[in-house]
Amino acid sequence: MANFPWEIEWSDALCMSNPEIDSEHQHFIELVNDLNGEIMNQRRDKAVIVNIMKLILEGAIAHFEHEERLLVENAYSAAQEHTQVHSGLTSKIKQASTERYSEYRAQHSVD
Ligand SMILES: [Fe+2]
Repeated sequence: MANFPWEIEWSDALCMSNPEIDSEHQHFIELVNDLNGEIMNQRRDKAVIVNIMKLILEGAIAHFEHEERLLVENAYSAAQEHTQVHSGLTSKIKQASTERYSEYRAQHSVD
């Protein structure tokens, strides 16, 4: 059971029956819950938020590359479309991070 209304919970409905992919998805859920938790926290520590966003972005790029390799290896017919979805999501994560924390990132030399 979720502790907060916005908390994402892992469930069997999200299971892809691939232990590596499931593990990566579970890790993302943890990171997103951590990010939401820090945003909801009154102190809203920018260093923590920026670090979590960096982990989400780095993790997303690595995870999407992993998924795309599996799609090609398994001759998935919609692999190209799925790759475009991944590209769009990566852009959205970068944009959200840049828009909200660009000043902090510049001041603290965060990539
Ligand atoms: Fe995925």
